[in-house]
Amino acid sequence: MKNQGIPGFEFNRKPIIGICNTWSELTPCNAHFRELAESVKRGISEAGGFPVEFPVMSLGETLMKPTAMLYRNLASMDVEESIRANPVDGVVLLCGCDKTTPSLVMGACSVNIPTIVVSGGPMLTGNYKGNQIGTSDVWRYHDDIRTGKVSEEEFITIEAAMCRSRGHCAVMGTASSMACMVESLGLSLAGNAAIPAADSRRKVLAQISGSRIVEMVNEDLKLSDILTRKAFENAIVTNAAIGGSTNFVIHLLAIAGRIGVPLEIEEFDKLSATVPLIANLQPSGKYFMEDLFYAGGLPAVLKELDQLLNRHAITVSGKSIAENYASAECFNREIIATVKNPFNTETGLAILRGNLCEASAVIKPSAASPHLMQHEGRAVVFENIEDFKLRIDSPDLEVDENSVLVLKNVGPKGYPGMPEVGNMGIPSKLLEKGVRDMVRISDGRMSGTGFGTIVLHVSPEAATGGKFALIKNGDVIVLDVPNRKLDIRVTEEEFEERKKHFHFLPPPANRGYVKLYIDHVQQAHLGADLDFLTGGSGSTVVRDSH
Ligand code: FES
Repeated sequence: MKNQGIPGFEFNRKPIIGICNTWSELTPCNAHFRELAESVKRGISEAGGFPVEFPVMSLGETLMKPTAMLYRNLASMDVEESIRANPVDGVVLLCGCDKTTPSLVMGACSVNIPTIVVSGGPMLTGNYKGNQIGTSDVWRYHDDIRTGKVSEEEFITIEAAMCRSRGHCAVMGTASSMACMVESLGLSLAGNAAIPAADSRRKVLAQISGSRIVEMVNEDLKLSDILTRKAFENAIVTNAAIGGSTNFVIHLLAIAGRIGVPLEIEEFDKLSATVPLIANLQPSGKYFMEDLFYAGGLPAVLKELDQLLNRHAITVSGKSIAENYASAECFNREIIATVKNPFNTETGLAILRGNLCEASAVIKPSAASPHLMQHEGRAVVFENIEDFKLRIDSPDLEVDENSVLVLKNVGPKGYPGMPEVGNMGIPSKLLEKGVRDMVRISDGRMSGTGFGTIVLHVSPEAATGGKFALIKNGDVIVLDVPNRKLDIRVTEEEFEERKKHFHFLPPPANRGYVKLYIDHVQQAHLGADLDFLTGGSGSTVVRDSH
């Protein structure tokens, strides 16, 4: 500290507050975080703490290959060990792009010191030719490129119009869902989720959060005091009401595993079943995060959900969640509807079971086509993503609008890393006929910006040799979302017969982190954390050499 020109009185006998920063020019959504950290520092110093900013592995959704999800658990290890090994009394997590939120929260949970989250905020709404656009439109325009309606040059212009400011994706994609998750869990100050990154009030929130973490250290208000069973229930109800990302399921399960709160995947369905969709936000609805902020932000949503929430759950403010939203107001019922008169009675998430997904699968009914919620069709099977890319646009592909597209080997172990390829494109020959949705099933994930009748996270995944691995072209698949069922009309005897001829694909890596990941990653219904990372080790350093 001396070599940085910091006199001893600056840090002696003061709470030392770490600012865990995921700033990186390779994570465009978090590229403004150095500035945000300065605001946090001001707040910490003001409240009598000593701020120390430190970098951790940053996970940028747009640039990392094969998928940022492969590295979520690795980043969480970096966060956990950095917090424990350094002499910090409390920590501020700067989170933005999709995986940067769960990885930081997971790592911090395994240490369990006073912690507060400051999110980077969403981008401003895009605008192209007078129309509001956001990153969900990437999927629409991508289909338009394939049918020749939009040229690649125009697409590049659209991209620039879509991503016109600092911040993360402006729809209720995974990053926004994660920001809402931390607010509804009680891990951030009220209003954190929706303030646009470019709005000066984002910096104000960062500064106040900096002050608050110092008080939290003095109060010894730790993560385990906030992340109770009731807090997890609140997050699940909120995610259903806002039409949050399917990725929420996997990340919340992993966080619960770290802090030691028992949480089963069925509970997402039980708790969501009676929750209507009240936030009219893309991809389930029409508007953007900036609109949500102007309509009152997440506090106005939570206030509307008052009767469905555990009102006394404590938050980082030191107050209950209900006290946090008590003064919230809704300024636009077109964007935040009421529970009595919701924007959509279809809930945000449903968990399916059946002989195709014995442990579970996930679907987002709010972003799916109502006419496909009960559907029976023949499987068109792709063994892996390369097979899919090779054949999807072939004129010889035997497929019609009633077919069910099945993509295998894109799960946690199989890909590896469970990429966001589940919203696989519609075959060109059907696009040309005007088909815009069909049932698609995979053991992978979908971007939170995606939409369609898409069954994801099939567990156990194909790479473990479960029944999903044994589906063949022409098998009849029955999807029944109202009854939460996903089945395949194949007898047990036939499955046994197919198993005899099943060949495992060789693991795609035999060294380094990827091997560690493949050997230890758990299935999607358990949160896809590494088995040896669940739980925590507290903040005590085992040995002290000084
Ligand atoms: Fe970072 Fe969408 S790419 S949030």
